[in-house]
Amino acid sequence: MGRASAVFTCSACGGETLKWQGQCPLCGEWNSLEQAAPRPGRPKAQGATPQRLETATSGRQARLASGQDELDRVMGGGIVPGSVTLLGGDPGIGKSTLLLQVAAHVAGTSPVLYASGEESVSQIALRAGRLGIEGSRVELVTESGLEAILDLTAQRKSALLVVDSIQTTQSGAVASSAGAVSQLRECTAELVRFAKSSGTAVLIIGHVTKEGAIAGPRVLEHLVDTVLYFESEAGSRYRIVRATKNRFGAVNELGFFAMTESGLREVRNPSAIFLARAPEPAAGSIVTVTREGGRPLLIELQALVDRMRFGAPRRVAQGLDANRLAMLLAVMNRHAELSLQEHDVFVNAVGGIQIGETAWDLPVAIALASSLKDAPVPNNLVCFGEIGLTGEVRPVAYGEERLREAHKQGFQLAIVPRENAPRKPLEGLRVIAVPRLAPALEAAFSPSR
Ligand code: TYD
Ligand code: MG
Repeated sequence: MGRASAVFTCSACGGETLKWQGQCPLCGEWNSLEQAAPRPGRPKAQGATPQRLETATSGRQARLASGQDELDRVMGGGIVPGSVTLLGGDPGIGKSTLLLQVAAHVAGTSPVLYASGEESVSQIALRAGRLGIEGSRVELVTESGLEAILDLTAQRKSALLVVDSIQTTQSGAVASSAGAVSQLRECTAELVRFAKSSGTAVLIIGHVTKEGAIAGPRVLEHLVDTVLYFESEAGSRYRIVRATKNRFGAVNELGFFAMTESGLREVRNPSAIFLARAPEPAAGSIVTVTREGGRPLLIELQALVDRMRFGAPRRVAQGLDANRLAMLLAVMNRHAELSLQEHDVFVNAVGGIQIGETAWDLPVAIALASSLKDAPVPNNLVCFGEIGLTGEVRPVAYGEERLREAHKQGFQLAIVPRENAPRKPLEGLRVIAVPRLAPALEAAFSPSR
């Protein structure tokens, strides 16, 4: 008892302090501290019995298939019983749609409870009609009380529980209102305890709020087993599910979906979407093979170089790292005699995808040169490679796999780092392996090639 029992939690960053202040000392947000409920006393030890590893592994249950191969792959091969997965994303992106589809699929073989604090049962049924799954055995309930949801799940012996959303769920153990950081945490922690003890797999929906990333699902990431983010470019019907944390699989796996009139459809050949481009070659456009999400993906990169009108030259990068672009411009100036100091420079990864790796260096350099010269590179050309500060072209990982993907998609010419030259030639794909930036540019623009 005493001072330590009063704790104040910041609703913006989730940090805790012992005294109330007008400004959170951790994140600097004003008026965000709220008193957290005093923690209940330490419960009696339950005395868990240790289990031998050999018996523990043999009792492992099979994963539940979600009905969507793209989602199963991102999750590492399906939904693990007793695991907790958080699906974050902007409101309206399709979280409820996806998880209702998953719920309906799983309900074909095991009991599933879909608890919504956001929509009424009839609203959910309306959506189910649109998805063509109205005959499914999913059990729906409009409920925001956590204890009631858990009781129902235990009573129905559900193999899967969907909580839509964590922001509307409220635990009686915490005094603050639904959506407050203390509620989000308590409810999630309780769901994790429940999942581990009952073996029920739990899928939690979390909205990413405007002010951030921080007040939303981010504060819950360390509690759950798997964190998936649902992303999309504004106005696009394509959706990407990305695993940013996964105790049961690889992180940064990507799954591709398209939002249609009747729900989310998986996209099995994502390269085809990102490559939906005009048939005529255009100056400043080039195709690269990136390896986002554990598999090769063909993406169009675009560059626009424009004579600067006033002030300092602009360097704008969409989907690519702007600092790396600045470095690339310096290398081009120094080692390829292409000066863009008096030009505004814009580069873009088409399709709204973020490319974190360095294989885009060489294609972007060629695209910049192409825009500057107003000379298109051939339409059947693909290119990847990292560029070093001395103008050398450096190899990237999975070179052969990237070339195979380009070959599969019908590309006939590739400019790649020397060390990435394939050991066995691919029929119909001519590979030009270059050691440095200057010969790469020459190869891209020489008519003889
Ligand atoms: P929803 O799953 O409700 O989003 P979230 O739960 O992430 O807030 O999806 C909402 C959007 O999806 C809405 O704008 C309508 C659209 N939508 C379709 O285009 N097709 C469909 O079949 C469904 C069910 C929704
Ligand atoms: Mg929803």
